[in-house]
Amino acid sequence: MLKKLQDRWKVNGWSLLLIILTFAIGGSLCGYLGRQILGFLQISKGAGWVMLYILLITLLWPVCVIFISIPFGQFAFFKNYISKIFARFGGSSNNKPRRLAIFASGAGSNAQKIIEHFRGNKNVQVSLIISNRADAGVIRVAADHQIECIILNKELPLNSPALINILKAKEIDLIVLAGFLKKIPQGLIKAFPHKIINIHPALLPLYGGKGMYGTHVHEAVIANREKQSGITIHYVDEVYDHGEIIFQETCNVSSQDTPATLAQKIHILEHQHYPLVIENILKSKIEVK
Ligand code: GRF
Repeated sequence: MLKKLQDRWKVNGWSLLLIILTFAIGGSLCGYLGRQILGFLQISKGAGWVMLYILLITLLWPVCVIFISIPFGQFAFFKNYISKIFARFGGSSNNKPRRLAIFASGAGSNAQKIIEHFRGNKNVQVSLIISNRADAGVIRVAADHQIECIILNKELPLNSPALINILKAKEIDLIVLAGFLKKIPQGLIKAFPHKIINIHPALLPLYGGKGMYGTHVHEAVIANREKQSGITIHYVDEVYDHGEIIFQETCNVSSQDTPATLAQKIHILEHQHYPLVIENILKSKIEVK
């Protein structure tokens, strides 16, 4: 049960303890204040008292837990938690569309599918394309869809605080790597914890790691006479192709397959699943967990 909560809220054991304490003390404080206010107003016990009490604790609860969360160092968690509750019950605090930034180095066929998938969607917006190559096909994809595109260079490298500032200023909720060949620096991962995902054209943990990209992956799969390959969508951490796996789908590899034909099969899977997986991740990030 505690482990489940830890996974759901993505916190360590110590933070979970502090969060539970905040819930307990904040809840008790709220009940205490509710009773004090009704006593002060000299409301006599009965059905009216109960209704007023429920109303009061509903109003006081967010204030009390936020107040208690500060000394417990859990303000960020509770701010997020309460805004999700507001969003769920139709409040205004979280009604903005979720904003995606797509990082790509190549042709950009995945970026294209993701953009097409979310076109006209009020809840999700592809707000930014980032590429590290001035000749990448994805730049044309961005232009065709009138999406702002930033090309990384010496003045704006991938590991610059300026890039983090741009992503923060644009209120990016999820960074989607779609054929982005550079390693994501630690600073960026820290600035967007659990908010960077990648797609890999094989069944991780097989055929991943440094140097395992594009056709190299398919060549290795065929050289090893694998009967199956597939796609892996995973969170990004400090190690290449290593973060928590979110989704995998397989395809058969036949003896006739070449790296090129296998790449085609993999691309079909990627186009079919990546946009939907992104949509599901965004949905789960709006839900109160
Ligand atoms: C995809 O196969 C993806 O898995 C890999 O790079 C390729 C990018 O293709 N990381 P595209 O640029 O989206 O067409």
